[in-house]
Amino acid sequence: MYEISEKLRELLAADLPVAVLTGAGVSAESGVPTFRGDEGLWKQFQPEELANVDAFLANPELVWNWYQYRRNIISQVEPNQGHFSLAKMEKRLSSFTLITQNVDDLHRRAGSRNILELHGNIVRNKCIKCGRQYENLPESEEVPQCECGGLIRPDVVWFGEMLPQDIIQKAFLAAEKASVFFSIGTSALVQPAASLPVMAKNRGAYLVEINVEPTVLSSHADEFLQGKSGEVLPVIIRECGLE
Ligand code: APR
Repeated sequence: MYEISEKLRELLAADLPVAVLTGAGVSAESGVPTFRGDEGLWKQFQPEELANVDAFLANPELVWNWYQYRRNIISQVEPNQGHFSLAKMEKRLSSFTLITQNVDDLHRRAGSRNILELHGNIVRNKCIKCGRQYENLPESEEVPQCECGGLIRPDVVWFGEMLPQDIIQKAFLAAEKASVFFSIGTSALVQPAASLPVMAKNRGAYLVEINVEPTVLSSHADEFLQGKSGEVLPVIIRECGLE
């Protein structure tokens, strides 16, 4: 089973500020494909073809229906024990910030509340022209239009787009403040998210990585727990008295 270090137990027992960065790996056990794994989404398509505004303007139906395909997968899955464990951690700790790159809404469905969605959320849409938000649009293969005449797009951050500045600032603040920083289920390749664990570590945080395989971050981590987040996180919750 997974060996949780004495150091991590002490830090969590002391109720010191904790920040967490999650990536697609946290949702893998729910059945949501990751981006860069063997069956990852980028194996079938190129990010440049789909997850960017030029691709959307060039072929709105293709991009819209790729997101409908992903929404369809997400509508049929449930949060897993990894999501639920992070929601428990938030309830038990005085200072806990969940920063996610995921757009699948599973952290919120698992009960997390203080969530910084760096890349937006696939359940939301917005008008490409006036920015008006739309939730729960009816299923449609046609790209819906806003009352202003603009096309409606998923409210996610595409390659080449700026992240919501207020959210990224809060994320960096939480990383600076953290005594413990978890990087979970992310390849730690995409900026600016990938800078968060490194900055936290440089500011003195105890850096814990949870992943099924080593990443570019692993050599910086104080503790690398190799395994599925849906299995490792419940062990941390149980062994560190966060039930
Ligand atoms: N438990 C823990 N880690 C896992 C699991 C699991 N069950 N399954 C896969 N992983 C790990 C993989 O080893 C990989 O390191 O999750 C990571 C997923 O990496 P990516 O597919 O690159 O996803 P992510 O890091 O979230 O990508 C970041 O890139 O394409 C953009 O906007 C997109 O938010 C995404 C960003």
